[in-house]
Amino acid sequence: MLYENLHITNNGELMIADTSTLDLTKQYGTPLYVMDKQQIIKNIKMYKEAITTFDNAQILYASKACDFLAMFQLCKQENIGVDVVSIGELYTAIKANIPVEHIYYHGNSKTYQELEYAIQNKVGCIVIDAIEEIHMIQEIASQYNYIQKALLRITPNIDPHTFDEVKTGVLDCKFGFAIGTELIDTAIQEIQKSSNIDFVGFHCHIGSQIFEYDAYQKTMDIMLQFVKQMQETYQIHTKELNIGGGFGIPYTNEDSTICITTLFNQLASQLQQFCQTHSIEIPKILIEPGRSIVANSGITLYTINGVKQIPNARNYVNIDGGMTDNPRYALYKSKYTIVCANKMHQPHDSMYTIAGHCCESGDLIAKDVYLPQNLQRNDTLAVLTTGAYNYSMSNNYNRFTKPAVIWVDGNKHQIVVHKETLDDLLRNDVTIKEA
Ligand SMILES: Cc1ncc(COP(=O)(O)O)c(C=O)c1O
Repeated sequence: MLYENLHITNNGELMIADTSTLDLTKQYGTPLYVMDKQQIIKNIKMYKEAITTFDNAQILYASKACDFLAMFQLCKQENIGVDVVSIGELYTAIKANIPVEHIYYHGNSKTYQELEYAIQNKVGCIVIDAIEEIHMIQEIASQYNYIQKALLRITPNIDPHTFDEVKTGVLDCKFGFAIGTELIDTAIQEIQKSSNIDFVGFHCHIGSQIFEYDAYQKTMDIMLQFVKQMQETYQIHTKELNIGGGFGIPYTNEDSTICITTLFNQLASQLQQFCQTHSIEIPKILIEPGRSIVANSGITLYTINGVKQIPNARNYVNIDGGMTDNPRYALYKSKYTIVCANKMHQPHDSMYTIAGHCCESGDLIAKDVYLPQNLQRNDTLAVLTTGAYNYSMSNNYNRFTKPAVIWVDGNKHQIVVHKETLDDLLRNDVTIKEA
């Protein structure tokens, strides 16, 4: 089987950990997000082990990958920090009692009110992404008589092989300060004037779903040269260097893999050598994996509402979810492995396109995937590897409700996010008085 935590029973039904996917659909309906809690813990432990190769390093889970309360609670339990990118994620992290010093607050367009909320709550570190932010942080922090720790986000001009939409380290990009531009000097000079900012170093993140060791090595090299230049020009001693996340994971048999232990060993020796050669104190390394912590823990279960075979064209399978619970095909044309959870013993050898329920032709989950020949109404489809950027990207387009999230742990399970109700959709709507 594709994934170590998925199994098939003797009657051809899909199990996740030791839990029957079909029992879950009977109990909770579909669409349904199902995540294997032990797989998430295993992924976190792998990172914890791999970072020991650095003298001093910390994991920050990039919570945008999957950001409900229980996920933050698990981060607290596993004693890792988090990267948040909105006031909503920050609020959830605080509610989960993540120690605030372990929260790093990102975002390319933070408002004054959001920064004030972060500073009032003593967020561990703000990753500065714009000149205006420096002024706002200084103003707010001085009002609260507080010294705010901060990093500066740098775009290192690296172009990894991934979807254009998830490249974040190229020069022409909305994030951060591009290396080699005067904007960086302006930012540093403004920071050095700000007595309420404790400036500790630099951040970069080159993109997502990256498999190239080379891209990370080049990034490390560029960032270390930059650290040296900042020391020489501005006498900045970089205490923290955040190298972001983006580590790729396989969604289909065609995807490659990246070994985190090998990568971190390479980066750690690169770091040590450079710092030794140039007499630079080795900074603390921060890493921000998101997808690779949660993606392979999750599957999404859907019920088939109908199958349409168009002569000389495609065979469409209509499911009861779509871009509302998984917009990644619509956004990036990303690929998935899909199986029929109640017909696992049947050959998956007929080609289908999986159509979502939204009133958009582009609402597909996958094009031209192989499933059993006799698919029919009420069969259950399982889309694999949906633990990342599915729940967190879900939305209410066409007024569909968001599915529940279930965590399985061996043969036990629990709801961690309730299914939205129709009344939830009306929660903020105002009934206007009839004339
Ligand atoms: C700043 C930052 N850090 C970390 C991540 C996590 O990336 P991934 O989920 O691919 O590991 C992202 C994702 O876009 C990001 O923007």
